Amino acid sequence: MIDTSPNQNRCELNKIKDYIVRKRYNLSGDVIEFGTFTGSSTKTLSLQFPDRKIYTIDHFKGLEVTNKNVPKGSDWIESAFAIGNPLYENIQSIPKTIDEVKEKLKGCSNVEMIIEDVHKLKNPSDYGISKISICNVDVDIYEPTVSALEFLTKCEWSEIFIRFDDWHGGEPEYDQHERLAFCEWIEKYKYDYEITHGGYIGGVYVKR
Ligand SMILES: C[S@@+](CC[C@H](N)C(=O)[O-])C[C@H]1O[C@@H](n2cnc3c(N)ncnc32)[C@H](O)[C@@H]1O
Repeated sequence: MIDTSPNQNRCELNKIKDYIVRKRYNLSGDVIEFGTFTGSSTKTLSLQFPDRKIYTIDHFKGLEVTNKNVPKGSDWIESAFAIGNPLYENIQSIPKTIDEVKEKLKGCSNVEMIIEDVHKLKNPSDYGISKISICNVDVDIYEPTVSALEFLTKCEWSEIFIRFDDWHGGEPEYDQHERLAFCEWIEKYKYDYEITHGGYIGGVYVKR
């Protein structure tokens, strides 16, 4: 049984580079992200890794209905985080159209947006994705996380650092989402791993 919360460290997005350097992981390869939405995390990744390509994947339709328990107090309802959802009409920081997301990322020349459903992704080479080494998972719930990790298996890497935006270590209500998808993936493929961040935001180093 995998202990998914060995520590309560948080893997802050803007410190991924630090963690990798501090841990002396010699990770070379591009960055992939599942869950673009406002483009904010993508921009942070782009600035942090200007010499690497940042592939960011989203269909911009928001969350599907999960078959797992929805944690009380979470905002994981159908269409949450969809671009154009009237819920966000008055929130300035949320782009209203996909074109507005593209506009926001215009100055980030290393970003490649892939507008796709993660459940329907084809081969990494179909999107020009070659060697990757860093991944940001931010699709919140179990089902798209499973598909994101399956896609990752098809990508080229021998070592990878994966950040999980909704790991919620030590919060049992969230046991059935990113952490469950991760445990099943590790058990299925028998990868070696080290959980460097087991708190609210997870961070894991995986080797195969
Ligand atoms: C919490 S938001 C991501 C936030 C983003 N990182 C940011 O900085 O704004 C979750 C995103 O996951 C995307 N998503 C969820 N399920 C998906 C799926 N099956 N395929 C593609 N994208 C999906 C949603 O459209 C939404 O934009």
